[in-house]
Amino acid sequence: MQENTILTPESVQASGEIPQHVSIIMDGNGRWAGARFRPRVFGHHKGALAVRRAVETARKLGVKYLTLYAFSDENWGRPAYEVSAVMDLLEKYINRELSNLNQNGIRLNAIGELHRLPERTKKILDQAILQLSGNSQMVLTLCLSYGGRSELSEAFKKIASKIEAGQLTSSQISAELIGNYLWTAGMPDPDLMIRTSGELRLSNFLLWQHAYSEMYFCKSSWPDFSETHFLEAVQSFQSRQRRFGLIREASRPLTLEELEELKREEH
Ligand code: IPE
Ligand code: IPE
Ligand code: MG
Repeated sequence: MQENTILTPESVQASGEIPQHVSIIMDGNGRWAGARFRPRVFGHHKGALAVRRAVETARKLGVKYLTLYAFSDENWGRPAYEVSAVMDLLEKYINRELSNLNQNGIRLNAIGELHRLPERTKKILDQAILQLSGNSQMVLTLCLSYGGRSELSEAFKKIASKIEAGQLTSSQISAELIGNYLWTAGMPDPDLMIRTSGELRLSNFLLWQHAYSEMYFCKSSWPDFSETHFLEAVQSFQSRQRRFGLIREASRPLTLEELEELKREEH
């Protein structure tokens, strides 16, 4: 594809494989607002609109799982007014988008320490999850009060109690088994992880599941993340060769001459 071609979901679909699972660290709302002399919460409001765009783009592309990092374990440490504004926005987002999500056949899922959410937020979330549970075109997972280390700790606790109860032996522990005890059990690992706002870190996001994901870091702040940004990320994914530790080309043993050559250098 040429550099100056206008990207569309259709052109990106035609140019290669669409990642089955895309995860996104939606970062940079506060800085986006600060740069415009607005309070951080203003940026979160704009960020909610970017969520709508990203969901629509993923759906148009035929992505099957979209997982959004919306609120981390660590984010509870922010000022109370910001935390409650994010929770209010989450409720607003769900109420506003429910019928649109349903029309598009999107199922809703939430992972994290959900019991820590305010009661009203949790109730609205649970109701929406139930209402959308029959849909099968795409699964939208919101990571709320989520931390990769908490998720792993929870999984290990559950595994340990099974062992204590004699329902499992330690020799049965495998990567597959651990995966089955995570909050993402049953979901494929993300193929592509996107982080906005130029930060180059994972920030405790799906630590186990991102083992072999392709990473895409975007300079744009989350409120500015457009359909084109999303399509550029998928295009970048399509240009990569995933190897999972294997090799693609044919290999052969060393010849005697090559062995001699190496020996000479090693001595
Ligand atoms: C991401 O934007 C949204 C949440 C963490 C809730 P930030 O609020 O982290 O914005 P920056 O990174 O401070 O700009
Ligand atoms: C990660 O962003 C969490 C979410 C996007 C919800 P943060 O802004 O909290 O992460 P750090 O502090 O830059 O690592
Ligand atoms: Mg941030």
